[in-house]
Amino acid sequence: MAYSPAESRYKNASYRRCGRSGLKLPELSLGLWHNFGDVDDFQVARSMIHTAFDHGITHFDLANNYGPSAGSAERNFGKILASDFVGLRDELIISTKAGYHMWEGPYGDWGSRKYLLSSLDQSLDRMGIDYVDIFYSHRPDPNTPIEETMGALDHAVRSGKALYVGISSYNPEQTRMAAKVLRDLGTPCLIHQPKYSILERWVEDGLLEVLSDEGIGGIAFCPLAQGMLTNRYLEGVPNDSRAAKSHGFLQQKAVDQNIEKVRKLVAVADARGQSLAQMALSWVLRQPAIASALIGASRPEQILENLQAVSAAPFSPEELAQIDEACGVK
Ligand SMILES: NC(=O)c1ccc[n+]([C@@H]2O[C@H](COP(=O)([O-])OP(=O)(O)OC[C@H]3O[C@@H](n4cnc5c(N)ncnc54)[C@H](OP(=O)(O)O)[C@@H]3O)[C@@H](O)[C@H]2O)c1
Repeated sequence: MAYSPAESRYKNASYRRCGRSGLKLPELSLGLWHNFGDVDDFQVARSMIHTAFDHGITHFDLANNYGPSAGSAERNFGKILASDFVGLRDELIISTKAGYHMWEGPYGDWGSRKYLLSSLDQSLDRMGIDYVDIFYSHRPDPNTPIEETMGALDHAVRSGKALYVGISSYNPEQTRMAAKVLRDLGTPCLIHQPKYSILERWVEDGLLEVLSDEGIGGIAFCPLAQGMLTNRYLEGVPNDSRAAKSHGFLQQKAVDQNIEKVRKLVAVADARGQSLAQMALSWVLRQPAIASALIGASRPEQILENLQAVSAAPFSPEELAQIDEACGVK
């Protein structure tokens, strides 16, 4: 069926400035790490992209290796762009990354200029687009000079293949260094993509401060802890859930370890009149340094539920304390 985007798509959507840049991001962005690969139902994937865009989610996050198979999420997204988003490229923020293993031999992994720039060409080819809005170094490479990795990002912008650049999972010190090298090259670091959720708080130990100082926007990945911070696992592990899939990155062990905390968090969310998923998203978005929460989904209904997080009431100090207590955080 042909798709035409909802005319109301920007009506209730809210956007935040990404660091000290001109770019605004939707408070929720959609990532294609799981559920958009060859192994997944293409029509469900397509309808999730439609639902997101129809509600003002303009930002779609990919990486070279998303699938499985690696590369298939970019290929599927490219198909959806070509069939359903003709004339809409300027309303979309598309990101991709390179940094994890992608192809055999010494040039398909980590942070060399050789890998990053050839991977970007491959990503553009798979998605059938001329440029990405954001190109990331997916992880720091301890064995490549940061000047080389950042130089490759700068080159991606200068060659017109990326509009902005970002880094992912760099620690505070690496982030300061990357920001300095990029600034000196004349291509500011737009964005940092760290893992951040109620259950995973490392960014509070210095990174958020660096982001504010440097004017870099934060986009929190796995804000729902891959589905654990939802009602998904309250009655066990459903067959169609990420933890049940052999190619899913969520281990049942992690679910078992966290389920007691999750039950306590559900009670706090109930008292706030939110679902746990909504509360978990409101919680990461309470940080001024975070421009967007980068969610995943396996069906359109999850996206619709999660969008309600954006209009939630701010947290009281008591609620924040209850959340910390539920997780055993002092
Ligand atoms: N930079 C990096 O190194 C890195 C690493 C990981 C991820 N990321 C990015 O972050 C994005 C999001 O990661 P993620 O998918 O792990 O995020 P997430 O939002 O923490 O988890 C998404 C999963 O939670 C479940 N879910 C979502 N909404 C729900 C709801 N309302 N009710 C019940 N369950 C719900 C779904 O699980 P089911 O599938 O079980 O339904 C969904 O697949 C990725 O797509 C990627 O773009 C980046």
